Amino acid sequence: MSQSSLGKKLQPAKKAWKRFARTVESKFHNLNLSKAIKVIKTSCSRLLSYCSIRFFHPFKKHSLTRPHYRRYHCNRDFYGHYYSNKNHVHNNFSAIYIDQLYSEEAAGSSTSSLQAKHFHAENNSRDKQVVDEQVLPRKEDKEKEKVLYSIEDAWREIVAKSPQLRPVDERADEFISNFRQEIKLQKEKSILEFEEMLARGQIGYALVPMIARGVMLGPDQPVILHLLDIPPAAEALNGVKMELVDAAFPLLKGVIATTDVVEACTGVNIAVMVGGFPRKEGMERKDVMSKNVSIYKSQASALEKHAAANCKVLVVANPANTNALILKEFAPSIPEKNITCMTRLDHNRALGQISERLNVQVSDVKNVIIWGNHSSTQCHDVNHATVKTSSGEEPVRELVKDDEWLNAEFITTVQQRGAAIIKARKLSSALSAASSACDHIRDWVLGTPEGTWVSMGVYSDGSYNVPSGLIYSFPVTCQNGEWKIVQELRIDEFSRKKLDLTADELSEEKALAYSCLS
Ligand SMILES: NC(=O)c1ccc[n+]([C@@H]2O[C@H](COP(=O)([O-])OP(=O)(O)OC[C@H]3O[C@@H](n4cnc5c(N)ncnc54)[C@H](O)[C@@H]3O)[C@@H](O)[C@H]2O)c1
Repeated sequence: MSQSSLGKKLQPAKKAWKRFARTVESKFHNLNLSKAIKVIKTSCSRLLSYCSIRFFHPFKKHSLTRPHYRRYHCNRDFYGHYYSNKNHVHNNFSAIYIDQLYSEEAAGSSTSSLQAKHFHAENNSRDKQVVDEQVLPRKEDKEKEKVLYSIEDAWREIVAKSPQLRPVDERADEFISNFRQEIKLQKEKSILEFEEMLARGQIGYALVPMIARGVMLGPDQPVILHLLDIPPAAEALNGVKMELVDAAFPLLKGVIATTDVVEACTGVNIAVMVGGFPRKEGMERKDVMSKNVSIYKSQASALEKHAAANCKVLVVANPANTNALILKEFAPSIPEKNITCMTRLDHNRALGQISERLNVQVSDVKNVIIWGNHSSTQCHDVNHATVKTSSGEEPVRELVKDDEWLNAEFITTVQQRGAAIIKARKLSSALSAASSACDHIRDWVLGTPEGTWVSMGVYSDGSYNVPSGLIYSFPVTCQNGEWKIVQELRIDEFSRKKLDLTADELSEEKALAYSCLS
């Protein structure tokens, strides 16, 4: 967070302090305590200037410098490391936060409060003392403490002598507590923004080396990569380009890293769309949809005008099915069969769970199906899945012999895998998503093996009574660069309900997306 934006955010607090000081002043005039007013007024203004210097100064030199930060946040190791490194470099100052300036006071006399403060200061945790000693000369520290104590002591003495001032005292406590809370929230927000910035481009970063190594299009296919990101991420994108050059991938014939959507789309044969606007805390579904609709609308136009004829598009970014639908709407000259969305990660997750359960190679499991939306309503169908065994292909249901597991735990594990990975990694799935994007394109372009189908989000033609006009995940086979929905699979009652439920959700999403367009 920049100094100026923090300065702006603290303005109301400063004003409130001034108002508060004026209120106190008027009360004191009534009580004829003019000397005490002067003490409070000077102390308040010194306190505010103290806050300004010590709170803002570090942000001037380096944002987020704060040695004590690790005590407040869960991502301790990362920030502990980050901040301690920074403090070695900038060890001539220390960020002081408002919440430390106003310590919680127990009721009692001013003397005991003073003693408590000294006791607290001297018995602070060991690492805090070490950091404090590194960053502030002790004498200076003590002088500043004196300023703080004199304000609070003077105030307490006055309140003790004048019971009519107690409401003012309570308001002061309330003000301090609100102010402290506000500062804490702002601090947390700025850390989250920073964390988000560091975590950008996860799938893209994992995907590009896979493509450059031939995982997507085979070991004989040279590639030129066009990388697109938004202007705030331009520098990071350029870093990725440098890494790609440094890795000296034999198949990589060129890299274009750009923030210009037209430059990115010009001449591309395959477009993998991972850029999107994530849902942030407090955002309504409609707000996220509206942001993504506008992104996909503009990217659709650029692809339509500048991509190679017959460009194949895979939309990964969420809401993947509906983003793909918007893209189809705004790129009418791109054939609808060329626009797909990714449900291959869910498909692969299902294969992985079955292979673990049966203790078999994942490559021996095939023909699971993900129906519908890339969301929690999707239907995981293993009714046609088989496993290669020494006596031929056998149905998964017969080998697992546990319908209860297949109809409950298996589904929830696949459904909640993304959340489990976020919980464990503190970042969303990137490697598995990138690998699944490669699988999706490879099977589409190079074909699926005989007798094997895969799940792809494609434009619905009404198969399996799924409403047409949705991008819906079906089982498909691919040949000569074209996908085809596998027909006439038996759907049991359990799955049928789920197929309809996920179709309903997609129809709702479609309506929401159209409402954003209008
Ligand atoms: N379909 C799936 O199976 C699946 C699986 C995992 C993740 N996802 C989705 O894929 C998307 C990417 O995931 P991630 O973890 O890489 O996210 P991320 O936030 O790490 O990366 C997104 C990137 O897109 C960029 N971006 C944002 N707006 C853009 C725009 N208008 N044009 C170009 N680039 C833009 C961001 O700057 C960032 O670099 C997310 O929407 C995520 O929900 C889908």
